[in-house]
Amino acid sequence: MTSGRSRLDDRIDAAADLVTVALDELLPRADGPEHRLTEAMRYAALGPGKRLRPFFALEAGRMFDAPERPVLRAACALECVHAYSLIHDDLPCMDNDDLRRGRPTVHRAYDEATALLAGDALHSAAFEIMADPDTHDDGAVRAELVRMLAVAAGARGMAGGQMIDRLGVGEGLGAIARMQRMKTGALIAFAFEIPLVLAGAGDGERQALLGFAQDLGLAYQIVDDLIDSEEDADLLGRTDSASPDRGRVNYVTILGADAARERIDMLAAQARSHLDLFGERALYLSESVDFVLQLSA
Ligand code: IPE
Ligand code: IPE
Ligand code: MG
Ligand code: MG
Repeated sequence: MTSGRSRLDDRIDAAADLVTVALDELLPRADGPEHRLTEAMRYAALGPGKRLRPFFALEAGRMFDAPERPVLRAACALECVHAYSLIHDDLPCMDNDDLRRGRPTVHRAYDEATALLAGDALHSAAFEIMADPDTHDDGAVRAELVRMLAVAAGARGMAGGQMIDRLGVGEGLGAIARMQRMKTGALIAFAFEIPLVLAGAGDGERQALLGFAQDLGLAYQIVDDLIDSEEDADLLGRTDSASPDRGRVNYVTILGADAARERIDMLAAQARSHLDLFGERALYLSESVDFVLQLSA
């Protein structure tokens, strides 16, 4: 890739700006003592995330001519769930991380109780936004979006995947893939479900888009695991008391970085091939695969 900014970079930035401005308006502010909670929610949700899930929703929304405002609001709801999941993921009882997005994690910037509550309240905010008549004038459409987000975030999706991650999945690659599909893939797939619910699509197009989401989601998590393993290697270089992989089980810790990279490339090719059906309409989604791949380059 050349050093200049691509049109894809501009589109990702534009989506991120749209979502950040919308979230700033949607998230509560408070004057009373609960101000600490709303500030922590804002710290987490308005921080410098890549906003890739909203980008996917908006980009796929354009492909299907879905109305932009409902897509944007649903994407904000999704980003609230994502922000909540990261706050809780970083807590001492989970991954015990001090840094997120280059800044102190919420429990470090505030305290553990505030972080727990900020996650809870962002989870609620997501469903408040989604169920609001401003999101869509048809209550049945709103209910379907609420239901699908709940499934993606819950025991059959992100939270269930986090549970399996805590318990350890053994070394079977199939079990790791299932854990990652739940932990990371479910919320990414929901980004693509948003335009499918709001605009509708034929079965073939629906299967192709969700096939893309699934392969991209798996590749995304392995890229994230590679980044973690590189950070661990740096940490190990600085202090020999650090525990490098903290008992993590993923493709990188089981197969090693080279085989993990091969798997990412295989998933990327498979993801792109799902988009053939859409031709030029899917140009930016197809290019976004490279964007994900270069995150760990
Ligand atoms: C981080 O997600 C955790 C994963 C599920 C891979 P992102 O890499 O999308 O996090 P932000 O929102 O850009 O910080
Ligand atoms: C976080 O997974 C994904 C969630 C579902 C919250 P990880 O623990 O693997 O991701 P990072 O490395 O903390 O972002
Ligand atoms: Mg984790
Ligand atoms: Mg983590």
